[in-house]
Amino acid sequence: MKLAILTGGGDAPGLNAVIRAVVKTAIYQFNGQVLGVRDGFDGFVTPNGIFPLDARAVSGILPRGGTILGTANRGNPFARKVIRNGVEIIEDISQQILDNIHALKLDALIVVGGDGTLRIARELHDLGVPIVGVPKTIDNDIGGTEFTFGFDTAVNTATEALDKLHATAEAHHRVMVLEVMGRDAGFVALHAGIAGGADVILIPEIPFSFDAICSKVRQRIEYGTHFSIIAVAEGARPKGGEQVYAIAGDSVYAARLGGIGQMVGKHLQDSCGFETRVTVLGHLQRGGSPSAFDRWLATRFGAAAVHLAVEGNFGKMVALQSENIVAVPLEQALSIPKRVNPQGDIVRTARDLGISFGDA
Ligand code: F6P
Repeated sequence: MKLAILTGGGDAPGLNAVIRAVVKTAIYQFNGQVLGVRDGFDGFVTPNGIFPLDARAVSGILPRGGTILGTANRGNPFARKVIRNGVEIIEDISQQILDNIHALKLDALIVVGGDGTLRIARELHDLGVPIVGVPKTIDNDIGGTEFTFGFDTAVNTATEALDKLHATAEAHHRVMVLEVMGRDAGFVALHAGIAGGADVILIPEIPFSFDAICSKVRQRIEYGTHFSIIAVAEGARPKGGEQVYAIAGDSVYAARLGGIGQMVGKHLQDSCGFETRVTVLGHLQRGGSPSAFDRWLATRFGAAAVHLAVEGNFGKMVALQSENIVAVPLEQALSIPKRVNPQGDIVRTARDLGISFGDA
């Protein structure tokens, strides 16, 4: 059995645990061979982009963040931006990639990625590549699986940041705003907000009003608590308003969210008169050693991906459902992105504790 594995899109803690599990399962369970592909799909068209992965190559990588394979979130073979003769063009190199994949005579290509990478994988599968997907993202926004690995570590990082902000907020009687990642999903803000004792949680799924946030902070002051903690997802937006972008996108690259924390902080300071400071946690959430949960999930995903490959169960991704690892068609997993349910149990629990979502 000959497998190849690549990691694509933004990195997430646990990628190395998947790679390790794939290599160990392939070797020890099926006496197979695994090739590593560098920097996402780019490895199929770059010199030395493919290299053998043996047990020695994956030794000691379990606790490491990042990915030993490298990754690319600008490596869509169907639409790649390149400069030719000083002019920017968009080229489709998918046929070249397909030819190189076929030349390797792979039994399966294991693609570890978020929705963007898994969409490319599905297209390649439709073109005849034996694909097995493994979902990863700190955003936890992929359908068909209860969790993606990387999310738990990111939530722990954000929770630790909230704990630290609490101390200084209380000391200075300030409002502290923490902007966290998550794209169009509010899972990181919601889970970390609850775990880190935030007073206000702002998520894309529940548009907020600035007045409601000010009222909550004021209420706390009237009650005698002169500090407040606000966890805001980068994709949150005011009622009737737009999401805030740090960098605009185009036909190839997605726009990058960022800036809503500053907007909320400025309003609290200028319009409501509360001394406010803003922290943007940024890519710290993507780094660090994966939590035990993420190592556990990534390891189970990696081993299960090899089993799907051996069974010839292609065009699917491994997923966690009710504690079991199952295979979900990529088509199905990608059809509806996962979002926080505003009426769901987790939001209700937060409201039970008096946490404001800025909507009332
Ligand atoms: O999807 C993971 C993620 O970290 C998002 O939460 C964030 O919006 C985005 O990637 C940032 O991407 P980049 O690596 O391009 O800065």
